[in-house]
Amino acid sequence: MRSIAELRKEIAAYRRRSPEGQAVGFVPTMGYLHEGHASLLRRSSAENGLTVLSVFVNPLQFGPNEDLDKYPRDEARDLAVASASGADIVFMPEVREMYPERMLTAVSVSGVTERLCGASRPGHFDGVATVVTKLLNIVQPDRAYFGQKDAQQVAVIERMVKDLNIPVDVIACPTQREKDGLALSSRNFYLNADERRQALILSRSLAQVPLLIREGACAERLIHWLSSEIAAQPLADIDYIDVFSYPDLQPLAADEPLRSTSAPVLVALAVRFGKTRLIDNMLLNPA
Ligand code: PAJ
Repeated sequence: MRSIAELRKEIAAYRRRSPEGQAVGFVPTMGYLHEGHASLLRRSSAENGLTVLSVFVNPLQFGPNEDLDKYPRDEARDLAVASASGADIVFMPEVREMYPERMLTAVSVSGVTERLCGASRPGHFDGVATVVTKLLNIVQPDRAYFGQKDAQQVAVIERMVKDLNIPVDVIACPTQREKDGLALSSRNFYLNADERRQALILSRSLAQVPLLIREGACAERLIHWLSSEIAAQPLADIDYIDVFSYPDLQPLAADEPLRSTSAPVLVALAVRFGKTRLIDNMLLNPA
């Protein structure tokens, strides 16, 4: 389905005919669907009477030198994954349907967007917050599903929904990985065999984090250890490796053992392998 009017009509018809209490779940994506997206769809389908999937590569959230034009697309495959994973409606708008005119309005979340990907990709989270607001207004779901793989994105959306009183429950879902640990991402498709092999260091080194914390590591030591493990891979080019409180994303005392922090702690990283920028993270003591 490509038109907003048609989508709204379908959802309204569902709400009219559905028995009391049948909720609408929503999974926003940029397509090239993989098992990570499928896990969100399955969860939504288990928890709601109707699941809406959107597939839209949102130009607003890509910087001028990023991969908007090269972002992988495969509509036929997306439709197959969607129906196998429980999506009832697939919304695939063209750019001109979502942005018929230049946008004069933007949604901008401060604070939680200042660090990590917000610092490396200026304007990125304004683009995400703006398109997610539009999509939530179009679909008006009861629940919206996001992956913890993009932990900062979850923090941004949760804060935006709270600040703007958007009537939706934001549900954060666990990161899905390949058998060898690599976090699933549409961008993994760009990796050549050497890059793919070396990229395993991200999940492997993150997997050691709980042990290092039990042994008394502070934020500074953890970052130092992760940096040296990752930098030992010749193709790895580190964008950031950082440790913050979650979901407010504030710095923690650099020299205090992390095991004495009872609040959730996010260890997050972004590393380039060749032209491909990968992100991964680990959330400790989740609330
Ligand atoms: P996209 O990268 O396509 O991701 C869509 C959703 O799938 C996001 O909530 C993301 O966190 C989740 N996801 C991706 N990889 C995952 C994995 N390995 N395990 C679990 N969940 C995973 O994120 C976006 O699109 C866009 O920014 C969007 C929210 C659609 C706004 O344009």
